[in-house]
Amino acid sequence: MATQYETLLKIIDRRRSIRAFDSKPIEPEDLDKIIEAARLAPSSNNTQPWRFVVVRDPQKRRDLTLAQPLGIPSPIKFAAEAPVIIACCSKPHALLHKAARVFGKDYCEIDAAIAVEHMILAATALGIGTCWLGWFSEPKVKKILEIPGGVKVIALLPLGYPQKTQKKDFRQRPRPKGMGNLGGTPRKELKDIVSYERWW
Ligand SMILES: Cc1cc2nc3c(=O)[nH]c(=O)nc-3n(C[C@H](O)[C@H](O)[C@H](O)COP(=O)(O)O)c2cc1C
Repeated sequence: MATQYETLLKIIDRRRSIRAFDSKPIEPEDLDKIIEAARLAPSSNNTQPWRFVVVRDPQKRRDLTLAQPLGIPSPIKFAAEAPVIIACCSKPHALLHKAARVFGKDYCEIDAAIAVEHMILAATALGIGTCWLGWFSEPKVKKILEIPGGVKVIALLPLGYPQKTQKKDFRQRPRPKGMGNLGGTPRKELKDIVSYERWW
């Protein structure tokens, strides 16, 4: 029987950025399961500053994927094919704002990012594809979804069943075999990302 670590690593390893989606809908129960994984994420002082706007409406999905800075052709149009796009947001929090001033880190964004990755892994475990999208005009996305002023949109997350043609995407090339390469897009070797006792 697989250990919990093996099961977890298999899901982590299987995850890929999916950029070609089938039109098959996401069952509401599966969507709930994915969001539940975000709800359980850790956060600074348990402030849970993440907020998620679930977008299923086809026109809104198209609008979101076309929301680019002026003059830039959209590289994320593919995401409109996904039956669901979640706008992943961080809501300002007084305590975290203070902490950010002291420690120089945006804990709201860090917390929301952790929650997003929880969703990505939960989706992977359910056989549902995702791709973290950071390439969008935040003001335009906020306007489309009527998101209030201080809230930040940290990612758009399409959710859908992967299409078979996905493998043709150049970003999906297999990783070379060997330590530190768990399959999929290439990864740095362990020695390049970890040092012990002091910086390299
Ligand atoms: C913060 C962040 C922003 C990203 N933005 C985009 C994006 O706008 N468009 C896109 O196609 N992929 C985007 N990606 C996906 C990365 O390109 C992808 O994770 C990386 O190439 C590794 O491939 P893999 O996810 O298949 O392992 C983003 C990933 C992260 C973590």
